[in-house]
Amino acid sequence: MNKVLIKIGFFTWVFILASCAGDSNPGYEFMPNMYRSPSLETYSEHNIEGYNGLPVEGTISRGYLSTFNYNATLEGYLLAGENEINLIEKNKDNLSKGEKLYGMMCTHCHGQNGEGDGKMKKHAAYSAVPAYNDDLDPRRTGSQMNELKAGHIFHAITYGVGNMGPHASQITEEERWLIVNYIQQELQHYGSKK
Ligand code: HEC
Repeated sequence: MNKVLIKIGFFTWVFILASCAGDSNPGYEFMPNMYRSPSLETYSEHNIEGYNGLPVEGTISRGYLSTFNYNATLEGYLLAGENEINLIEKNKDNLSKGEKLYGMMCTHCHGQNGEGDGKMKKHAAYSAVPAYNDDLDPRRTGSQMNELKAGHIFHAITYGVGNMGPHASQITEEERWLIVNYIQQELQHYGSKK
């Protein structure tokens, strides 16, 4: 029994003394790798042969848009509307792709026919979703929803507006253009074609 007590006492002292270092000294480190990671910090100096610290070929940096260089400001939005045109070929296949994507990403707020009557309408924050075919209330452009240009719609999907969040991380650029195409062809004039 005594031996056990002596052992416990001994290790207690070792432990206490090991933690008695000055402020600038971390004391004894049992597992230094846990405190100081052996891995390299991004862009830090290193001596690995053949590695230049640049992103791997073929990787795309977050937020990078190859076709759409407008920032998340009103100015960027207006410029996008002026400059961008929808290059998606107007055929059945692309329309149905756009419709599917719209159904997955927008319907719950904007409604199946884009009349602003999706299921989310019952939540106060989304009670005022505008209809794409609206020709009364002026938007940020000064014109109405049914006159929004391709670049405006793409910008809204990318950066969001008011209570609509940005969708850039969920929808690829090509998919965004397919949705824009679908909205322009089918929803901005919904009802007036009938
Ligand atoms: C969570 C609900 C929600 C979702 C999902 C959503 N929207 Fe919206 N959207 C809104 C609301 C709310 C507004 C009105 C915002 C405002 O005027 O402040 C709006 C406005 C817009 C506008 C008008 C922008 C402008 O410049 O005036 C467009 C275009 C639009 N949405 C397109 C889309 C498309 C396309 C999708 C799917 C990719 C989508 N939205 C998904 C809620 C949503």
